[in-house]
Amino acid sequence: MNVAATSALSPADTVLGYHARTKHSLARYAAGPEALDWDSQPNPFREFEGCARTGLELGADRLGTSFAQAGTPGSIGAAALTIESVASLLQLSMGLSAWKEYGPDRWAVRCNPSSGNLHPTEAYVFASNVPGLDDGVHHYLSRDHALELRCVRNTRSDAPARLWIGLSSVHWREAWKYGERAFRYCQLDVGHALGALRYAAGALGWNATLVEDVDSAELAAMMGLDRADAFAGAEREEADLLIAIETTPCPSPVAAHRLPFARGDDGDRWTGRANLLDPHPLYRWPVIEQASQATQGRDAGLPSEFPVYPPRKRTDDVRAADIILGRRSAQRFDSKYKMSADTFYRMLDGLLNRPGAPWDVWNFAPRVHPVVFVHRVEGLDPGVYALPRHPAAADALRAQMRGDFEWQTPDNAPAHLPFYRLLRTNCRIIARTMNCHQAIASDSCFSLSMLSEFEPVVGANPWRYRQLHWEAGLIGHVLYLEAEAEGLRGTGIGCYFDDALHDVLGLATTQFQSLYHFTVGRPLTDDRISTWPAYPHRQGPPPRESQP
Ligand SMILES: Cc1cc2nc3c(=O)[nH]c(=O)nc-3n(C[C@H](O)[C@H](O)[C@H](O)COP(=O)(O)O)c2cc1C
Repeated sequence: MNVAATSALSPADTVLGYHARTKHSLARYAAGPEALDWDSQPNPFREFEGCARTGLELGADRLGTSFAQAGTPGSIGAAALTIESVASLLQLSMGLSAWKEYGPDRWAVRCNPSSGNLHPTEAYVFASNVPGLDDGVHHYLSRDHALELRCVRNTRSDAPARLWIGLSSVHWREAWKYGERAFRYCQLDVGHALGALRYAAGALGWNATLVEDVDSAELAAMMGLDRADAFAGAEREEADLLIAIETTPCPSPVAAHRLPFARGDDGDRWTGRANLLDPHPLYRWPVIEQASQATQGRDAGLPSEFPVYPPRKRTDDVRAADIILGRRSAQRFDSKYKMSADTFYRMLDGLLNRPGAPWDVWNFAPRVHPVVFVHRVEGLDPGVYALPRHPAAADALRAQMRGDFEWQTPDNAPAHLPFYRLLRTNCRIIARTMNCHQAIASDSCFSLSMLSEFEPVVGANPWRYRQLHWEAGLIGHVLYLEAEAEGLRGTGIGCYFDDALHDVLGLATTQFQSLYHFTVGRPLTDDRISTWPAYPHRQGPPPRESQP
């Protein structure tokens, strides 16, 4: 049944209503399961029975690209587009990075983070004349670092080698734990996956760009997600976005990114049946499907003028693959540690729009603006600060926020950084309270809240609800990797009390809403958890073309 069709609300009202009802507050959390049976978690790995599989090489260790080079277009030569380089792209973005063990529990962690480690995001590879890869649509199975050939689709042999990656979400994976708020987390996870792919492409000397003129329904058909037979009895996936991968340092004009094939091409041969991830779902959260349907669509041409900062001059030579494969979420922080001002400002600088990973992944104006709660940074007063990533947002935020905020640039801030002190105060207790009482928000060096331009943008095009979450996920992803590069660590925070935070900042309307929080500091590691290789049995050459 089409749930949205039963509602008299417009798509914009549906998603604005969804956002309002999924706020956590000090008085009550958004609707979610009352009890969780941890032993019956949904299977974190989707696979398709009956597809030909291609095991991929684990080649990322051989990539010498530094983290600085991965973020700077043109700083290294582009790798040839072959099955081996596609394997590295996937390994460094959606692949496993380790297995963890604690007592009887064993779980995989991946290069892309995910709320609750539930990993709702699935990746599909569209290959056209890539040496070593069948033409067509493949599903990436991260558990085995393998591709499952879902659709054979022959392209002209004289066409150049091309590659696209489609992302989709299995909402139930996230809803199993988080109930109604899960759609937000799925979209933040998509933003992280987008960032992960852009950085991985950078490590190969490539670029990655969002294909803007493909809408959700068309994308679902391209990925085979609308094929009832393939998903019979299994959880459906919702199409999120399509990324064009190019072996050039800078993206081609947008029109060149479209797939050379679309729905129902002659000669398509689809195979495979999706596995059931949760045989005993205990709850249903229909508002997730309503929000998902209400936000389908694509970009509808909002003005995209914004400052683009020049590439950063970085000299650090730590390997991108080491940063990406080593990225983890901190679970506790050293509450005595003070971060240097240089480190702090370098991390914030990474959030400004400039060519290279990840910000050239699209051409949208920045609409998500961090408000930073500084706890322990040398040379900077503890307090509340703002980093409006677009000059117009500085004025709008100033008009909306508390009238007694200072809006002063700290003396030691780099001249180009749009960074303002709003209030000198010890904000550790507030940060902890606002973030669902989580100590990671107060024991760190700083935490932040990502304020997004909201109701006017989402009201004009509900699809933007997704895109704003992707932007917040991208900000989180930059902070994760920049923190690792600085020898520190970050953690995404999806659990926070929305309106309590807005009240603290004096935001009385829904012109801005906080979509995601983050925290960064020196991590304390938990020695009780042991770490094992991501692919223990895969050190030799990959198994090739095992037929089902
Ligand atoms: C969107 C999002 C929201 C998250 N929210 C929280 C949170 O509120 N509290 C927390 O401790 N960790 C949070 N995390 C961190 C995840 O739990 C973590 O990414 C996951 O366990 C996988 O571990 P890894 O990041 O080390 O790969 C969040 C991560 C993401 C991507």
